[in-house]
Amino acid sequence: VFEPQNILVTGGAGFIGSNFVRYVAQEHPSTHVTVLDALTYAGNRANLEGLVPSHVEFIHGNICDAELLNKVVPGHDLIVHFAAESHNDRAIENAQPFLETNVDGTYQLLVAAQRYGVRFHHISTDEVFGDLPLNSTELFTENSPYNPSSPYAATKAASDHLVRAWHRTYGLYTTISNCSNNYGPYQHVEKFIPRQITNILQGRAPELYGSGLNIRDWIHVDDHSRAIWSIVTRGRSGQTYLIAANGQTSNREVLSLICEAMGVRADAVHFVTDRPGHDRRYALDATKITTELHWHPQHTDFARGIEQTVRWYVDHRSWWEPYKAQTEELYNHRG
Ligand code: NAD
Ligand code: DAU
Repeated sequence: VFEPQNILVTGGAGFIGSNFVRYVAQEHPSTHVTVLDALTYAGNRANLEGLVPSHVEFIHGNICDAELLNKVVPGHDLIVHFAAESHNDRAIENAQPFLETNVDGTYQLLVAAQRYGVRFHHISTDEVFGDLPLNSTELFTENSPYNPSSPYAATKAASDHLVRAWHRTYGLYTTISNCSNNYGPYQHVEKFIPRQITNILQGRAPELYGSGLNIRDWIHVDDHSRAIWSIVTRGRSGQTYLIAANGQTSNREVLSLICEAMGVRADAVHFVTDRPGHDRRYALDATKITTELHWHPQHTDFARGIEQTVRWYVDHRSWWEPYKAQTEELYNHRG
């Protein structure tokens, strides 16, 4: 078992990164965490509020900045790489920042990790495998071929390939996890679940793309954090692990659960123009991580997880309200 002493967390001011940092601070308090984050529109210092600076240090900077990495990376024994441009609808509008951060940024980090002998865990997505038909029971596995459909997914696939190449060519100690759709506190209001909750809280109609029948495989962000910890401490170098929690649910069903939790009728929904190239279904087989690393999801009641998430957004209006109007402008512009 590897016990990291000094972790560099890229993208630690974003949704999943900040939840992971809070998890480490609570469950593994002897581990020091350095967060490196460029604070793009998706990064927020408030996501790390309340954490003790002697345990969690924050550095404002860009992963594409090689000079900065030469200063920041030495002294760490592990990089957990969350930093990315993460939203499909934005990539469809303009993929340039996705190529810079997801591809070049990952490359710059790999070079620094290799130079200073630091282990590298790469956070990736199920979207690298493309999508599955709606009416099938097929699941993606670690051996599924890469087949990304969207500009975002293509850049994440490219980053996975770079990590694999650095392992094979230079012998860098690497692990990769491909996780399904996360939900929970601190998720940006551009994403499906927070967008619908905050629309309803502001008296707007929820919006479903296309038929609303597309399926995502939902997992609570805390289960993702524990899975990452199991991989970085006990995973084997050069390996990929899929992370998911049997959470397949259609967007319509997710919206019904949100409406139920908020005590509103689910029939005032707007069906809007579909996302171009919209992936139909994601579903992952998590057998490898459950059998090899004995990780199991704890948040198995999705309706309850949605209720708790609704409660979080109700209780944290001052966290999301400043970002809501500009986010909706992005969607209005999309039409
Ligand atoms: P997010 O958009 O909420 O956060 C991304 C963070 O990265 C932000 O804090 C942002 O400021 C930072 N960042 C962006 N570009 C940067 C740069 N060039 N240098 C330094 N920091 C930069 O994203 P998220 O939803 O928390 O996703 C985190 C990671 O997990 C991503 O790699 C994403 O591909 C992956 N992932 C996400 C999901 C999901 O459901 N959200 C599922 C599987 C995998
Ligand atoms: O599968 C993992 C991926 O999950 C991550 O790699 C991405 O970073 C993350 O953004 C997420 O991608 P999706 O495109 O699946 O998530 P999003 O929240 O944008 O949309 C979820 C589903 O809801 C998708 O089928 C599109 C649909 N949708 C989305 C929005 C914002 C709507 O119907 N209405 C909406 O308003």
